[in-house]
Amino acid sequence: TDRYAVIGHPIAHSKSPAIHAAFARETGEDLVYDRILAPLDDFAGTVRRFIAAGGRGLNVTIPFKEAAWALSDERAPRAQVAGAVNTLSLLPDGRLRGDNTDGVGLVRDLATNNGFAFAGTRILLLGAGGAARGLLQPLLEADPTELVIANRTAAKAHALAALISDGRVSGCGLDELDRTAFDLIINATSAGLDDQAPPLPNQVLAAGGWVYDLVYRDDPTPFQHWGLERGAAVALDGLGMLVEQAAESFFLWRGRRPHTAPVIAALRSGGL
Ligand code: ATR
Repeated sequence: TDRYAVIGHPIAHSKSPAIHAAFARETGEDLVYDRILAPLDDFAGTVRRFIAAGGRGLNVTIPFKEAAWALSDERAPRAQVAGAVNTLSLLPDGRLRGDNTDGVGLVRDLATNNGFAFAGTRILLLGAGGAARGLLQPLLEADPTELVIANRTAAKAHALAALISDGRVSGCGLDELDRTAFDLIINATSAGLDDQAPPLPNQVLAAGGWVYDLVYRDDPTPFQHWGLERGAAVALDGLGMLVEQAAESFFLWRGRRPHTAPVIAALRSGGL
């Protein structure tokens, strides 16, 4: 039986063990998937002990994604750009490969699960921290016309846009969003579930535009409410992305693509 785990701090509420257990049941893969609470000052040692004890791969969550990037002996290109790693895989030679499946998880949830057609759209990405950065390459590969990164601290959005150096990408402050209307607005700020939605002018959402919040909870988030109150055609939370990023990690480790729809539905109904 191959061993996997999710590692973070805190970790008790992670849904990853239930999601991967469901994937393993469905695909018949023989694996166990645990959760590991790593001390804040010993992420690397905790990873090494897990590998030494037979661990084959790890999902990495807050606050260790940057540490996992640094620990990786090699990185997938999308993880290289992200500056953060959420999936570690043990290579046959004993080295660790880092990848980041968050962005592809977001794009699959939008495009495959919900039918959003990315080609030719204008996208607004709110936030310029680690979560936002992890999405950039997969979002650009989905072929939008324009991607604007808007952040409370404008300088961080400018810096991230410069780092990507793609003609479709620009950065600005949240307070500079007074012209363009966007087809999709993604909330990747850490403003929090109990907080309000980031302050945005009303015209920033195009008629028939979509909104996507990276976080999720039982009822709609403040950002989903913001979108719905301004006529969003669709307002999604991050539950589908959570399952899709897990499915991509499962594929990296096992070479099998589990069906995600039943797992999303089970989580949504509280049955997982
Ligand atoms: P994460 O890993 O979740 O991205 P982070 O790297 O600390 O966390 O980035 C947090 C992001 O949320 C930043 O873009 C931050 O804006 P600043 O760069 O101006 O700090 C944004 N953010 C946090 N709280 C916010 C709030 N109340 N309103 C708007 N943006 C907020």
